[in-house]
Amino acid sequence: MDFTFTPIGVIHSPFLDKKDTPIQPTRSRAAGQVEVFEEYATGLEDLEGFSHIILLYVFHRSSGFRLKVQPFLDSRPHGLFSTRYPCRPNPIGLSIVRLVNRRGRWLDIEGVDVLDSTPLLDIKPYVPEFDIRTGARAGWFENRSQE
Ligand SMILES: C[S@@+](CC[C@H](N)C(=O)[O-])C[C@H]1O[C@@H](n2cnc3c(N)ncnc32)[C@H](O)[C@@H]1O
Repeated sequence: MDFTFTPIGVIHSPFLDKKDTPIQPTRSRAAGQVEVFEEYATGLEDLEGFSHIILLYVFHRSSGFRLKVQPFLDSRPHGLFSTRYPCRPNPIGLSIVRLVNRRGRWLDIEGVDVLDSTPLLDIKPYVPEFDIRTGARAGWFENRSQE
């Protein structure tokens, strides 16, 4: 089965180069904007009540993938699917960012970890009851070689 997704918008960010881009929202204070295309704007209603949103997007400037990679914060290789490495068979990224403000079909966000012009696939509200897991383990990340 193949699937075709059409972007619903674009993520605007200050980052033009991968090496300057933060590796996760929790390590970023950068501001950005989400532009949702006009035809999807009505779907943003009621989003402003949420402090955080989940962005799903395409790593449009990645190419190819390897199944063992050395992730950003460790010197040892790990299986791709135990990492957040951007080069993946389906190059989909997920970022939980702070929603600062909604201006119509534009969202001001903080905690950006994506390149400018990243194509946006979906937005979901971050809901603590659904999304927080107490006692979660973080595998190799708990013994990583870098902070
Ligand atoms: C480690 S990934 C984590 C992204 C996301 N928070 C996740 O967990 O799926 C973040 C890195 O991906 C790279 N990146 C960000 N946006 C990209 C894009 N549109 N295309 C290709 N690489 C991108 C940058 O090097 C950035 O530092």
